Amino acid sequence: MVLAGAIVAALLAPYPAFAYFNGLGFNFERSLFRRDLNTTDGSEYGDSTKWPAPFANGGRSWAAAFAKANATASQMTVEELVNMTTGVVGLCVGETGAVPRLGIPQMCLQDGPIGPRAVYGSSQFPAGVTVAATWDRELMYARARAMGQEFHDQGVHIALAPVTGGPLGRTPLQGRAWEGFSADPYATGVASYQSVLGITHAGVASVAKHWIAYEQETSRNIFVEVDGFSQADIQLPISSNLDDLTMHELYMWSFAEAVRAGTSHVMCSYNRINDTHSCSNAKGLNNLLKKELNFQGGVISDWGGQWNTIPSAENGLDVGMPGAGFAAELGNFWGETLVDLVNNGTVSKAVVRDKVVRLLTGYYYLGQDVSPLPEFVYNTIGSPTLNATSGYRNVRKPSSPKLIKDIGLASVTLLKNTGSLPLKHPQRIAVLGNDATDNVLGPNACGTGNSACDVSNLNGTLSTGGGSGAAIAPYIVTPLDALQQRAIEDNAEIAAVVANSTTTIGAEDAIASLLPDADVTLVFLNRYSAEGADIPNFDIAGDGDNLMDLAVTYSSNVVVVIHTTGVVDIEKWADNPNVTAILVAYLPGQEAGNGLVPVLYGDVAPSGKLPWTWGKSVDDYPPNGVIYTDDYSPESNFTEGVFIDYRWFDKKGITPRYEFGFGLSYTTFGYSDIIVDEGRWAKDDTSVMDTAEPFEMWNGKNSLYDVLFTVFATITNTGNVTGSEVAQLYISIPGDNQPVRQLRGFDKAKDLAPGDSAVVSFPIRRKDVSSWSVVDQYWYIPSGTFGISVGGSSRNLPLNATWTSQ
Ligand code: NOJ
Repeated sequence: MVLAGAIVAALLAPYPAFAYFNGLGFNFERSLFRRDLNTTDGSEYGDSTKWPAPFANGGRSWAAAFAKANATASQMTVEELVNMTTGVVGLCVGETGAVPRLGIPQMCLQDGPIGPRAVYGSSQFPAGVTVAATWDRELMYARARAMGQEFHDQGVHIALAPVTGGPLGRTPLQGRAWEGFSADPYATGVASYQSVLGITHAGVASVAKHWIAYEQETSRNIFVEVDGFSQADIQLPISSNLDDLTMHELYMWSFAEAVRAGTSHVMCSYNRINDTHSCSNAKGLNNLLKKELNFQGGVISDWGGQWNTIPSAENGLDVGMPGAGFAAELGNFWGETLVDLVNNGTVSKAVVRDKVVRLLTGYYYLGQDVSPLPEFVYNTIGSPTLNATSGYRNVRKPSSPKLIKDIGLASVTLLKNTGSLPLKHPQRIAVLGNDATDNVLGPNACGTGNSACDVSNLNGTLSTGGGSGAAIAPYIVTPLDALQQRAIEDNAEIAAVVANSTTTIGAEDAIASLLPDADVTLVFLNRYSAEGADIPNFDIAGDGDNLMDLAVTYSSNVVVVIHTTGVVDIEKWADNPNVTAILVAYLPGQEAGNGLVPVLYGDVAPSGKLPWTWGKSVDDYPPNGVIYTDDYSPESNFTEGVFIDYRWFDKKGITPRYEFGFGLSYTTFGYSDIIVDEGRWAKDDTSVMDTAEPFEMWNGKNSLYDVLFTVFATITNTGNVTGSEVAQLYISIPGDNQPVRQLRGFDKAKDLAPGDSAVVSFPIRRKDVSSWSVVDQYWYIPSGTFGISVGGSSRNLPLNATWTSQ
């Protein structure tokens, strides 16, 4: 046994443990660690007698597909039904069992949120955080539509995207929050809604993930935490312990938007929720998701997120991934075991049939039966080298580089500018930092492949974070590539010192001789993080701090560009007068340089705004954001409730370095003429699917998503260059213990010429002015006067008005 364990450890050694469970590692039976957990854990959230599994009915838009799915599933034997609910091993990261007799193929499930993962011939799109920083609904949709097309053309039936507010951003130390969008539920809800639409319109099923309250990587699942391989009974996954109000107002919000948009599937998360595994949580899956949100699609487990047989069968899980074989580590939960349980009457056949109906509804709705997808040709599982098994298929569209570039340009967020930007045709340009250039190990040494990214390596520019949320870059246009091109056009000189260590022999001398003569010094910094591990602190990667010391010593015109998965510490130099500009460019994907340099040169004014609060230190945020413990049952108490990110800063009176929604331009904008138009009641016309969220004034015809009133404001370009402005609307709901303000609308006024004005509008839906009553278990509009503020960030709100509820 010791020997077997040693062999397992040795095989896994070069690969971070989570890569194994992401489907990039090996595929062998690890019965040594097998455990059999067929009983519930006793916590009330696991009680399906209290919260029984609702049967699907097709909802508002899927009636025809539901009828087809029902007809097909009704013809299936128990073995066939179970076969569809239990993942099988194939080329994709996950596959469902086929029923050839009825023409149902094995369906391909593939990551992830920036395009087909580990699949050559695909694009590397900008990360979720990047598109969130554009605050541009059209770009959010266009990105998802283009990614969806690539999934489709690679033969992926079910794309494991988008990350829909799980994680949401309770802590800035979450290692993979960048896969999602914003630390605000409304903004994440908008991006999730647009992303689901885009993927769906490409004929691919989307998977809103990870349901729910999945806010730390640490202790997310034992097999990722214990020296690279699991041992039974060492540790349960972290339990996110939260109250009903926080669940509704914060964490469910964006999932409701994904369900409204018609997501075919939802992925349940690794963590436990109030002590019950998310994937067998009757309260979470049966009651909140399927009953309250009226979700008609299927719940797919995260890979290895299924922990038991009977509870998950009855408590709302529909498809266990990756299924028997791969998940043997914790037992073959469904498969033959479930067949026996149905045959002996322990688990109802109707419940299992409902799982298949939910899985097949999306398949029929998307027409994947009438227009079969091409065969998936890459081997993304079982082969760390990721070689194609049957040739190379390139599905990239000629239009995608421009789209990726445009998202980059619209996301770049200017945090400081004392006048050095835009660059005015500098003749001598110094560039510092390895983030400006190529990774010495090729474009995919970080993020993709086996997810290894050795921070002591010269990793080059950061285009993506790591883990299952990464995708192979077909190439990367680095910032230095694009700067050199510009320098050539300007007949300028450009010199780069890209040794990332100031201790590299000669580095300091090179910097000392280069910088004083340069017109401008561009410093490129970054910070990587990846799925599977949380971020230990706000440190900039490599030798970034020392590099900045040298930069401000030898240059009085330092422009800093940061590629990052989230907040980093810039306190030592942000106020230094020699630092004349700071920009954050997030994770821009393959067109990194093209999506940045036109902003530096002023071809496009920056218009991105922060999708989270940039604090000065980790201590500015709610405490205990990540729990580190060896306890068998690790617990994370969400005692801050709904007060995360800017809500926390506002409540505690903490001054951030840069507030939520902040971002400068090269021009200025005036805000005027706020109008609260109550004559604009409008029936909800945005819900593809109707939720069944209860609300106080329900009359059988109205909806929580009806527009109650619309706020208008006028934005005027008061500066000298064309620019775009993200106008934001915040609402202060009356009552005790409400957040000071909450984002409830945004509208981007695009390409305003100097002197021009545009009217922005913010439709306010019933839900946007509602609170969740834990007593009455419905949404209600608190009585009183609501504060409405409109402006350019969460702390710059020049326009104010009120709205009074009846
Ligand atoms: C684990 C990740 O948490 C999830 O996002 C991903 O879709 C699966 N692995 C499959 O790779």
